[in-house]
Amino acid sequence: MSQRVLTTESGAPVADNQNSASAGVGGPLLLQDQHLLEKLARFNRERIPERVVHARGSGAYGHFEVTDDVTGYTHAAFLGEIGKRTEVFLRFSTVADSLGGADAVRDPRGFAVKFYTEEGNYDLVGNNTPVFFIKDPIKFPDFIHSQKRDPFTGKQEPDNVWDFWAHSPEATHQITWLMGDRGIPASYRHMNGYGSHTYQWTNEQGEAFFVKYHFKTNQGVRCLSTEQAQELAGKDPNSHQTDLLQAIERGVHPSWTLYVQIMPAAEAAEYRFNPFDLTKVWPHRDYPLQRVGRLVLDRNPDNVFAEVEQAAFSPNNFVPGIGPSPDKMLQGRLFAYADAHRYRLGVNHTQLAVNAPKATTAQNYGRDGFMATNAQGRHAKNYEPNSYDGPVETGRPLSAPLAVNGHTGTHEAPLHTKDDDFFQAGELYRLMSEEEKSRLVANIAGGLSQVSRDDVIEKNLAHFHAADPGYGKRVEEAVRALRED
Ligand code: HEM
Repeated sequence: MSQRVLTTESGAPVADNQNSASAGVGGPLLLQDQHLLEKLARFNRERIPERVVHARGSGAYGHFEVTDDVTGYTHAAFLGEIGKRTEVFLRFSTVADSLGGADAVRDPRGFAVKFYTEEGNYDLVGNNTPVFFIKDPIKFPDFIHSQKRDPFTGKQEPDNVWDFWAHSPEATHQITWLMGDRGIPASYRHMNGYGSHTYQWTNEQGEAFFVKYHFKTNQGVRCLSTEQAQELAGKDPNSHQTDLLQAIERGVHPSWTLYVQIMPAAEAAEYRFNPFDLTKVWPHRDYPLQRVGRLVLDRNPDNVFAEVEQAAFSPNNFVPGIGPSPDKMLQGRLFAYADAHRYRLGVNHTQLAVNAPKATTAQNYGRDGFMATNAQGRHAKNYEPNSYDGPVETGRPLSAPLAVNGHTGTHEAPLHTKDDDFFQAGELYRLMSEEEKSRLVANIAGGLSQVSRDDVIEKNLAHFHAADPGYGKRVEEAVRALRED
């Protein structure tokens, strides 16, 4: 077989890929060396901005198969029939580190699924934790600033991390989760995924339900201790990537079983917890898990940059039968992601192969902008309405309308009968075994004891005391012991 010829980007053959063209044997280089100029210029442009959060990640393709009938709750076509399969792409990630960080760290993990359905792409952009640190999106930039690098020292500062939490009692539940045994998954395969937010499903009859998604790993939950993680992060900073890539290449296909908790919309107002508060779970005895299907990952991307770095998930990519709830965090996210993609990837990021619909096509009147590739044909008009048989609206909302009341203003989230910032954190603590409690306390104390200001430490201790007096007492003693060392 004759060897293929190396070409420039415009396809012309390259004569020499080892020596630049020069004026004479020892002379300066020539501006006419197109191949050299193109190589150097392209190289300068190989990086795009990393994601402002969730910068480190790994992705894989697979499918979702419906195993149970949920048509009484949603008319989403991809969930419409037992046995139905839909292609998916899933990107896992850590949150706080930049691209150059390590995988085996104490941090939530992203669990972002793109379902390529026949009614358009449905993005479920979740985490491996059922709750989150805050409940209003207006706090998100401050929260992330406090967890990432300090603008002066250029590194993560325990002072900032804990100062933010001192002012955010609603974070106590998620902190208890993160500092506990599940805070460092052994790999992306060995952790659950959660939609975390409450979403809305609408059935054929127009009835609305609020749902929470739970992807349970079929590999079993496996976690690392702080010490194991520190060792692994040093040995193989890409440990999660290595694990996922190699498992799939070996034909060991990871899978998750999807369950949902379903609340009839009429029950939301009277539920003892605000069902739209992202710092709260719905106990399973209130709303049991109902199985929906199975997600399997069986194919690695061919190119990490094209398919993982350029993957764009947006919580506002819904399909008919699924929509948002009034969860304020979710509402903020409905804006944030597509805006981030337009900055990071450009206005036509939806035309990239990993982001474009696969089981249907985008048909609309948007055309132009940087890197436009989907011109939609010679006769397609770029305005609507038109007399040329262009695509038209359905007149059918994707999901049922949400009830609203009251006045506009900057309101705190409404409190339901059992709502406070600490009850569920205390419940989680009380569920733990004695050994788990000890590890949790040691992890919290390890971070909190590094804080320089006593008032910040005191405020945080007050949160653990409020969650459970025993919890507060043990953290306080452990912090004191470490500070006296
Ligand atoms: C108001 C709160 C939040 C805001 C403003 C926000 C914003 C962002 C932004 C700007 C990105 C980067 C997107 C990109 O450049 O591609 C991102 C990534 C991500 N966020 Fe959030 N986020 C919020 C809360 C959450 C929550 C609560 C979850 C999980 C339940 C979550 C899960 C993720 C995931 C998984 C990614 C990575 C997606 C990927 O793999 O490409 N975020 N977030």
